[in-house]
Amino acid sequence: MTAAVPKPEILAAFEGAKGFMPTHEGLALYAAAVEAGALGLPLLEVGTYCGRSAILLADAARAAGVTALTVDHHRGSEEQQPGWEYHDPETVDPELGLMDTLPTFRRTLHRAGLEDHIVALVGRSPQVAKIWNSPLGLVFIDGGHTDEHASADYEGWAPHVAEGGLLLIHDVHPDPKDEFTGQAPYRIYLRALESGAFEEISVTGTLRVLRRLRASR
Ligand SMILES: C[S@@+](CC[C@H](N)C(=O)[O-])C[C@H]1O[C@@H](n2cnc3c(N)ncnc32)[C@H](O)[C@@H]1O
Repeated sequence: MTAAVPKPEILAAFEGAKGFMPTHEGLALYAAAVEAGALGLPLLEVGTYCGRSAILLADAARAAGVTALTVDHHRGSEEQQPGWEYHDPETVDPELGLMDTLPTFRRTLHRAGLEDHIVALVGRSPQVAKIWNSPLGLVFIDGGHTDEHASADYEGWAPHVAEGGLLLIHDVHPDPKDEFTGQAPYRIYLRALESGAFEEISVTGTLRVLRRLRASR
């Protein structure tokens, strides 16, 4: 089966959006999202930021006739705060002096014509996960990169991946030399594999795609 690729205008919107995901990983994310969409269940992302990867999930959801969901408190991760390497001053709300990436996300998805295919859940990922109670075709974890946040995302959302559904983890760095973003995503990736509930489907850059083999207990 050949991997699904986004239309040129969707790829252009992705590449033009603020964010961190390189194109080769975006293409792998898109192909996985189209595949998972065939289950007829929602596709959920943890870590919206300004909507770069959300464009691809929303377009795959549109193609499958399902809804994409994206969770973020929109206040930025540790490494995106003022003074840190990934800080973008344009993401700061001048009135509050705090990061607020929600307005950029909304503009980005509107301009891409995808607003009707995605629901933004604004809040802390563990708080949203706690009240979530329905199966998902895909969960893409790209939220906070500390052990506390990555573990909470894994524990809160992986159980909701339906049998045959996909769990994607971004920023997986098996090499401990990569100290900046850390290895918390790598550690949850190992937990998923060691649980025996997931098998690895693909590796593209720092993106890992796993499939759920059996339902969560
Ligand atoms: C690496 S960025 C996401 C990048 C995005 N997926 C993209 O491709 O452009 C991580 C995001 O996770 C959010 N985040 C971090 N910890 C969070 C938490 N505990 N709950 C909700 N959002 C969180 C941050 O606000 C930030 O926008």
